[in-house]
Amino acid sequence: MRSLIDILDLSPAEIDELIATANDIIANPVKYSEKCRGKKLATLFFEPSTRTRLSFEAAMYELGGSVLGFSEAQSSSAAKGESVSDTAKTVSCYADIIAMRHPKEGAPFVASQAASIPIINAGDGGHNHPTQTLTDLLTISREKGRFDGLTVGFCGDLKFGRTVHSLIGALCRYKNVKIVLISPEELKVPSYVKQSMKKAGVEYVQTTDLEQALPELDILYMTRVQRERFFNEEDYLRLRDSYILTPAKLKNAKSDLSIMHPLPRVNEISVEIDDDPRACYFKQVLNGKYVRMALILKLLEVE
Ligand code: NCD
Repeated sequence: MRSLIDILDLSPAEIDELIATANDIIANPVKYSEKCRGKKLATLFFEPSTRTRLSFEAAMYELGGSVLGFSEAQSSSAAKGESVSDTAKTVSCYADIIAMRHPKEGAPFVASQAASIPIINAGDGGHNHPTQTLTDLLTISREKGRFDGLTVGFCGDLKFGRTVHSLIGALCRYKNVKIVLISPEELKVPSYVKQSMKKAGVEYVQTTDLEQALPELDILYMTRVQRERFFNEEDYLRLRDSYILTPAKLKNAKSDLSIMHPLPRVNEISVEIDDDPRACYFKQVLNGKYVRMALILKLLEVE
């Protein structure tokens, strides 16, 4: 039995397989509509979510399965003081697979040690978000047809942005990837992320200047400043509008740039950009459902 806690739990070959399955689901959805008949997915969300939880639920329904769960900690026994391990053991009695989001780093891992069914990390604090990374990789593969040789810019809250940490981890395994980290001084990537780029021999630069970095990028991955992970509101207010992407700023960008964002967007991308053919963030939303369908099939070992 396998869980997905960290994107590196999957080999690059397995990621290729998941992408191939997701593309096949997109092409032949009917073929998959009964694959999980009789199976149940539990979504245990101790933190807010729109896309991740609903895409998991839509994914399971489109596979013919069913869904149970909760969408806030306050409506579960966590509010009474139950441990994550006990919750995971309990839900193992009712479901076949769990998607869990939790504000504490490592909580889905702890759950996976106690559960008797696969656990999928749907975001743990400011740490990791492997299924967003699968979504991002499917999107990059559909937009660019490759991972090797891309120059990828990450902009915004690189300190607390868990989607950034997981995607950088995944990109470090491809050839000649260059990473450009664009953030305020206070919101630079954690040192463990820098270590993994160094260890992989990935070329990276850190800058505070989005406009200067833009022309060389193949992908620009924007992120929101993660208000809920700040220690004080003052710092958040000071940093939240550090970067706002507008049509004017895109003037010197590549014509085939892909603009990505895990969403939710607050202010980082002006809505005028939504109609630009380079905007990919709503494609990511849709891709997220298909790649989660592929992941559920894999972890449930459905043929
Ligand atoms: C992200 C998350 O939850 O980390 N959202 C998502 O799952 N698509 C990004 C964010 O909240 O900023």
